[in-house]
Amino acid sequence: MTDKNFKEPYFIPANSSEFLANGETWIENNQRFRQSERFRFFRCAMDYIVENYLPGSYFEFGVHRARTFTMVMGLDDFYASNMGETAGGLTPKPGGGFMDKYFAFDSFEGWPQISDVTSHPHYSPGGAKTDSDEFIELLTAYGQSTERVELIEGFYDRSLTESLANKYVQEKVKASLITVDCNLYESYKSVFAWVDQFMQPGTVLYLDDYNTFRAQPNQGPKRAWNEYKEISDWKFEPFLPVGHWGFSFIVC
Ligand SMILES: C[S@@+](CC[C@H](N)C(=O)[O-])C[C@H]1O[C@@H](n2cnc3c(N)ncnc32)[C@H](O)[C@@H]1O
Repeated sequence: MTDKNFKEPYFIPANSSEFLANGETWIENNQRFRQSERFRFFRCAMDYIVENYLPGSYFEFGVHRARTFTMVMGLDDFYASNMGETAGGLTPKPGGGFMDKYFAFDSFEGWPQISDVTSHPHYSPGGAKTDSDEFIELLTAYGQSTERVELIEGFYDRSLTESLANKYVQEKVKASLITVDCNLYESYKSVFAWVDQFMQPGTVLYLDDYNTFRAQPNQGPKRAWNEYKEISDWKFEPFLPVGHWGFSFIVC
């Protein structure tokens, strides 16, 4: 059966009312586009994790409005609830999802106080703040169980300690998926130095700010990434790009 509406130019032109109706304001319209690109990526990442029977936990650095966190929790639960026998080597958990735990690392006070942010005045200390109560409220409002969610509160240069790492090592914590979405060189640097020990072959590492600073290799998060890659024992296989901003890798 042919669809009469499916005709040249075979896409919805950006100046048509149908396109503009996809979000009433420009911000809504563009957020819908950006968040749907992220959602698509996380679906691919979860699909890959399930297909490869990769056990482990979710680590997110920079959780703010619980958007990407909710994408991952919801998709994990979707796969665990619907795949049944075909999920093979992964076992659904009693509260939903395959992941052991969901770790949320954030200051819950917004951006840190750092010296080198002159070119990005919107990163002023305290900006992008969602406190921990509100974060939990958002997750609950989005229908997620918070039973296996663990909040690690504080600025990374102080919260990502050796003793916290030792505790997780003892608990045999490993990451199947890591999201780094904390925008700043200093924040990314602290995260990479600490999270390295929780990677395993196959872990998906998503860097949401890969192409900020016009994608220049010696600036911002990409600078932290390039410095970290030099010293890490892991190798990183390119995985998927996300919109114009993000990039993901598979740990090898
Ligand atoms: C862009 S937001 C994250 C958006 C989030 N993934 C979402 O989907 O809603 C960045 C977050 O990183 C956090 N952040 C940035 N640098 C940090 C640091 N050094 N220590 C702790 N949190 C930090 C901020 O508090 C903020 O909540």
